[in-house]
Amino acid sequence: MPKVVALEKAQALRAQAQRLLDSVSDYAGPFSSSLLFWQQSLRNPVQICSVFPSRPNVGKSMCNVVGDCKGKPVIELGAGTGAVTRQLLSNGIKAHDLTAVELDREFSHYLSRKYLGVEVLNLGAEEVADLWLKRKSPKVGAVVSTLPIKLFDEDLQRQILGSMLDVMDEGASFVQLTYRLKSPIMKEVYEDLGLKASRASVVWQSIPPAFIWKYERA
Ligand SMILES: C[S@@+](CC[C@H](N)C(=O)[O-])C[C@H]1O[C@@H](n2cnc3c(N)ncnc32)[C@H](O)[C@@H]1O
Repeated sequence: MPKVVALEKAQALRAQAQRLLDSVSDYAGPFSSSLLFWQQSLRNPVQICSVFPSRPNVGKSMCNVVGDCKGKPVIELGAGTGAVTRQLLSNGIKAHDLTAVELDREFSHYLSRKYLGVEVLNLGAEEVADLWLKRKSPKVGAVVSTLPIKLFDEDLQRQILGSMLDVMDEGASFVQLTYRLKSPIMKEVYEDLGLKASRASVVWQSIPPAFIWKYERA
């Protein structure tokens, strides 16, 4: 089949799937977060970079790696439809201590409606630290990220990790989910910023297995 025809067919199929999801989402009830996730991932596959929200045990494992930072603010980057947000709240982080950052507008609206009391910022992760510093908000106990950071170029990785360091407490860590074995953040980026990295946890029950990386001051 010629390449152009195949591309047109794929686009038509995607549009059909989109219409189907749009039409059932109003009736979806408890499945609405998964449907919204699929909808937006069809619209914007590169940014969302996943077809399914994270499984609960991925969020739980991220919480274990974060450890106890109750009473301190926590920033979640790439909150999506709140799969990890929910686990952070269940793990004892108070809604008023949690800031969920999400680039997608639909996801941000959904999060604001669903997680009352959580501050939702519809911003790029790279813009958050500036706002934090401008507002003179207290330093954070942890940054929890499910951003598709492995796909970001070196400059963007450096900008996000570096700016987050400016708002992180001395002992705070940047906890990142990935589905690859190796560090999703380039070695030269975290080492230049004076950080050490460790693969802190593996979630074998997730398909594919999920790896939780922890970046902290060396
Ligand atoms: C793999 S999904 C994770 C969603 C959710 N946290 C979960 O675990 O199911 C990645 C999320 O990061 C968001 N995202 C991508 N680039 C971003 C950026 N520069 N700033 C903020 N959010 C971003 C996407 O819109 C998407 O919701």
